[in-house]
Amino acid sequence: MPFKHFSFKNIARDTFNQATESLLLTWKEIATLFGLKQDIYKNPLHKPLSRPVTAILIGAGNRGNIYADYALIHPDELNIIGVADENAVRNGRFARKHKVVASNRFYNWEDVFKRDKFADAVIIATPDPLHAPVCLQALDKGYDVLLEKPIGLTEEECRQIHEKAKTTGRIVGVCHVLRYSPYFRQLKEIIASQTIGDIVSVQHMEPIGFSHMAHSYVRGNWHNSKATSPIILAKSCHDTDILRWLINEPIEDLQCYGSLSHFIYENAPAGSTERCTDGCAVEGTCPFSALQIYYRDRKRLYVFDLPERKKNWDYIILKKLKTTDYGRCVYRMDNDQPDHLTVNMRFAKNITAVFSMEGLTSYEGRCTRIMGTKGDIVGNMETYTITDFRTGQQTSWSLKTDFHGGGDHRLVQDWIQAVGHQNAAILSSTIDVSVVSHLMAFAAERSRLNHSIEEIKLNK
Ligand SMILES: NC(=O)c1ccc[n+]([C@@H]2O[C@H](COP(=O)([O-])OP(=O)(O)OC[C@H]3O[C@@H](n4cnc5c(N)ncnc54)[C@H](O)[C@@H]3O)[C@@H](O)[C@H]2O)c1
Repeated sequence: MPFKHFSFKNIARDTFNQATESLLLTWKEIATLFGLKQDIYKNPLHKPLSRPVTAILIGAGNRGNIYADYALIHPDELNIIGVADENAVRNGRFARKHKVVASNRFYNWEDVFKRDKFADAVIIATPDPLHAPVCLQALDKGYDVLLEKPIGLTEEECRQIHEKAKTTGRIVGVCHVLRYSPYFRQLKEIIASQTIGDIVSVQHMEPIGFSHMAHSYVRGNWHNSKATSPIILAKSCHDTDILRWLINEPIEDLQCYGSLSHFIYENAPAGSTERCTDGCAVEGTCPFSALQIYYRDRKRLYVFDLPERKKNWDYIILKKLKTTDYGRCVYRMDNDQPDHLTVNMRFAKNITAVFSMEGLTSYEGRCTRIMGTKGDIVGNMETYTITDFRTGQQTSWSLKTDFHGGGDHRLVQDWIQAVGHQNAAILSSTIDVSVVSHLMAFAAERSRLNHSIEEIKLNK
């Protein structure tokens, strides 16, 4: 369906009545059309801060830097005054970037909590197994927390943090960044307004992308579910969270199917070798070639901590491919994460949802189809189209953003406000509402492994 660009004020009533027209509108225009709130990005609870919130970053890797960068853009809101990272290169780079004094630099997270509390909050962006232990100590020390997902590796850890946040009265914001993206915020608003009537069912898909799949879940940090967390938790707790948030009804039960089909030893092509650099006979035609991804295309290089000067990059990247997992053949790893899975869910009021995570796609992002009693919505994170059943009128929205739909810094902004004014209600992804997405993910993994239908019990 070709989109037409209209300026809302110029849209004549006749235009709406042409059932075949499709309108590409801004959010303000969509809101005016359907009588919705125009200012959904202005949180009315936001108020000026008397001083910037001070924070310590624990884990100065990829995610930690994304959140902390907010302080460089908005120094009047956030000041990062401490860092803990065991990686000396990252620790040093981060300290220089944020002007962290030597006495506030730590190489192990535990050392942060040996000191008296010296900031308002901590941002926890360490690897998955180091979320719950760090968070529990931070709360005991009286810090507010911004916690990367997953909250914990087990239901028990998640419940412990939830309980500790309640008993200490501290704020824990969970990095369910999709809740803060314009795409999902607008879908939430449209659904809540009954524009498409009552929700009957939802189909939601997370295409990971073949190269991202190979990088993170076959070769990279999350390739082994036992060492980190199952992919349904590590990658898709965002999606269990978004589905529950959009549907806004309690989840009752679910079942999950999924397996690791492609990235297994049996599929290793004849002539392939342990590493792509070992003279593999099919390297030139393999879509997962490490030489192609990292060396020739220069993609996803942040994992290598390359020097700022690019002079020796060729040599260093090749060395990394010869010595780290990132150079290993995708068919010869010790990986166990499924490369595809589906989850069937039943919510209260007989609303059903199906989620599918797909590792083998040429595209990334999220795709959503929401079926209501008066209309439906079809979207893919960058665009969505609402169709009114009665008139056939289609209304579309479009915005190019990053893979998190622009949610990362919007989350940080709300979290700073929540901490600065000591008001957790400013946050969408508090620990209270986030735990259930994890219970759904744990249940899905149990279902996948045991071929069972799992009930979701919020209280033990
Ligand atoms: N919210 C999201 O959308 C999203 C996206 C990607 C990753 N994540 C999560 O964010 C977390 C971090 O992921 P990442 O990609 O930034 O990983 P990363 O490896 O780039 O960063 C983790 C950092 O923690 C440091 N670290 C490890 N052990 C430590 C210790 N004992 N003390 C101090 N520092 C230590 C590492 O050196 C590393 O720099 C993971 O849990 C991941 O699942 C969330």
